[in-house]
This record gives sequence, structure tokens and C-alpha cells, in this order.
Amino acid sequence: MTHIPVTSEGQIVVTPFAPALGAEVRGIDLADGLDEQSYQAIRQALLRYQVLFFKEQTEIAAETHVEIGRMFGDLHMHPAAPQMSGHPEIFVIHAHKDSKVANGEFWHSDVSCDEEPPLGTMLQLHILPEVGGDTLFANMYAAYEALSEPFREMLSGLTALHESEHVYRGRYSDRGVEDHGKTYPQAVHPVIRTHPETGRKAVYVNRTFTTRINELSEPESKAILECLFDHCEHVDFQIRYRWERYDVAFWDNRCAMHRAIWDYWPAERQGRRVTIKGDRPS
Ligand code: SIN
Repeated sequence: MTHIPVTSEGQIVVTPFAPALGAEVRGIDLADGLDEQSYQAIRQALLRYQVLFFKEQTEIAAETHVEIGRMFGDLHMHPAAPQMSGHPEIFVIHAHKDSKVANGEFWHSDVSCDEEPPLGTMLQLHILPEVGGDTLFANMYAAYEALSEPFREMLSGLTALHESEHVYRGRYSDRGVEDHGKTYPQAVHPVIRTHPETGRKAVYVNRTFTTRINELSEPESKAILECLFDHCEHVDFQIRYRWERYDVAFWDNRCAMHRAIWDYWPAERQGRRVTIKGDRPS
């Protein structure tokens, strides 16, 4: 895709972040909410750039965050994470000196273990470590387009199992979540999905949730998945985002993966995210 240097939509200015993917958005403070014109501009920019970084923001109230998320679709309730009191649609991202895990430490597309995995996720960070805590994003259209034609053809008929038991069981126990007797989701999705809005093809497997290619033997599945994970995580398809306080990142889970780097222990990093429901991948 060709990037244009600067796009102006009303008061919103969208500037590409890197050739791989991403754009910075200025001229709007999401804490004030979103009007229809800005919503349309942001929706188009998200489809074009896959992840948007809203700069020069102030703290978004939880209600406003939920309202903005709802403009893009119904909100997704996380199957495992603790809910914010009074705002069950908000997932609080929090890691500190006593944390056993930090969220999103390995490459993934959010909750790809759901039958209808999220369209997008909007995260604002309120507490940042002095250094570190960056997030990586990777372009899964580019990963698809870089595959050879025979390999793409083989993958196009395959489906993969995405599981979450191994990811979520006991994960949030240090935040008071008791999951005894709970069943965590799993789903089968095409290995290559077509984005429902852009019509472009993207690789849709990730190291966190994808455990098996259904149509292959166990050793074949293991080898092909490992090859795809390595390919999708190649630095050519990536950006690394260094956060500033109150920045908001909004990413499209249907065509981008991400990974949050926990290199700042014992420092603290905290924020809130809303996640927008998506379609069944096809
Ligand atoms: C996530 O939602 O996967 C976490 C992203 C981040 O904390 O940067």
C-alpha cells in the first residue's frame, strides 16, 4: 500500500508512523468524545494504517472510553481478565513489582480463541515506566504478501485451532480471579483470512493462541506453524511504539498482531482498554 505523507480530515491530522504500518493522529482529544465526522475519519484511517496512535491526549473517563468504543461496534467482554468495577467492558492493563505476568507478552491478535474475535482494541496508558514498556505491532497483510505463491495456495485451504486454556488458566489469580470450573474458549479459523472491510488477505495465526493446523499431521502442523510464526514476527513487518503518557493506541486485530514488552519490572505500567467485537473470520 502506498502511504501518503499527511492526510487531513477536518481537524484530524494523520501522519504515517513507518512504511510497515501505523499512523499518528493529532488534532483531537478523545477525552472530549468523538463526533460523527471524526469517527468516520478514524475508521478510514484504521483500515488504511492498521494501528493508530493518538498523540497529545488527556485522560479519557471510563464512560467516554466505553462510548467511543461503542461507536465502532458492540464491546467485547474479555473471557478471563478482571473487569473494572462499574465498567465491565473495560479491561485494566496493569503490571507492577508484584505481578507474575504482564498482559500480551507474546505475539498475538487479541482473543483469537473466540469464535468471533475482536475487530479492534483501543488502549490508553495512564502510568508508564520511566523507560521501556514499548509495544510491537506487525502487519499481517504484508506477511501474507511476502509468502511465495505455492505456499499461499497451500495455506489458503487450511484451518487452525486457536486455544486459550493454556493462556488464561490461573493467569489473573494475582488480581483476584478464581477460575476453578471455568471453561476457556477455543475456535477454528482459516489460516489466511480475508479482511471483511478491505477485502485484503492476511495471515491469521499467532504464537499465543494457535496450537494446531487441522488438516495436517501433527509434525507437519508443528513445522508449518513454527515457520509461519517466525515469518509473521519478522522485523520487516513490524514497528515498535514508545508510549507517552495518555497516548491511545487503536489497532485492527483482523490484520495486525502485537506484543507488549515487559522489560520494565519492577516499575509499573497501567492503562485501560476497550475491545470491539468482530466477525467470524472467513
Ligand atoms: C494487549 O492488549 O495485548 C497489551 C498491549 C499493551 O499493553 O501494550
